Amino acid sequence: MVERLPESGKIWYNGEFVDWKEATVHVLAHGLHYGSGVFEGIRCYATAKGSFIFRLREHVDRMYRSAELYKMEIPYSKEELTEAIKETVRINGLDACYIRPIAFYGFHHLGVNPAGCPVDCAVAAWRWGTYLGEEALENGIRCAFSSWRRIDPNTLHVTAKATGHYLNSMLAVHEAKEQGVDEAILLDNKGYVAEGPGENIFAVKNATLYTPAIESSILPGITRASVIELARDMGYEVVEKSIKKEELLSADEVFFTGTAAEVSPIREIDDVPIGAGKRGEVTGAIQRKFFDVVNAKEERYMKWLERV
Ligand SMILES: Cc1ncc(COP(=O)(O)O)c(C=O)c1O
Repeated sequence: MVERLPESGKIWYNGEFVDWKEATVHVLAHGLHYGSGVFEGIRCYATAKGSFIFRLREHVDRMYRSAELYKMEIPYSKEELTEAIKETVRINGLDACYIRPIAFYGFHHLGVNPAGCPVDCAVAAWRWGTYLGEEALENGIRCAFSSWRRIDPNTLHVTAKATGHYLNSMLAVHEAKEQGVDEAILLDNKGYVAEGPGENIFAVKNATLYTPAIESSILPGITRASVIELARDMGYEVVEKSIKKEELLSADEVFFTGTAAEVSPIREIDDVPIGAGKRGEVTGAIQRKFFDVVNAKEERYMKWLERV
């Protein structure tokens, strides 16, 4: 069972902190009816050097870019939202947590054209462990290719992290659960590997890393970008390209990246074991490096950590 949210503490809502239970939305809010919102998922890590938010600037930039793509004007500056995010962590006394900023069209009218609707904005944070479980980080997860294709750039802005997009992810997750596997892998509309419902994907073959390029309808993940940089710095070659289903199945190793999933090995796809059917060597090395970085153990990447 998925854990219920805490219902205590404070949420930053349109410029002020309100009690968790007061942070509510009208049933006729535009965003509720049409999925017209943009958001982020951000992690804060408790380290021996204090609490740090991972790549906060990049997350805030992506949120404003998502809003821009959908012509939504967030009524706060990036600096104001950044401060609201940090203050939400502080005011709730959290050290390690997941942070969820969101901006959406609120209550005014219900025409599809949102003109005139306010853009409501909130930031919540709560304690949260690993997304797919500790065991998953160690031993890897089981996945299946979804029969649902990832949303397409001819229909939606696939590079935006927008609320309405997640109906696509939800369908894929439902299907995966029905099949009894941990997570889905979606293909793009051309049949190439795109990503998970909330994760980017990497394959390892002969110690080279491959990951779908932006052209495969992926969300440009911040963990993905970090892993590409880390892997290159570690001396691995990383290739962004279109990846066929068969290439994924015949890879030595496959893993997911994401704020929630962090670096999660995939040990099986459609009942076919990947490589040795457990976390591979390269995945293990990248995972260790990633956790060292987010835990402030790597001076070189302290630039990615923002003190709370
Ligand atoms: C659809 C989708 N793809 C990929 C990702 C991974 O992105 P990030 O590493 O920025 O969390 C996410 C999570 O935000 C996502 O929702």
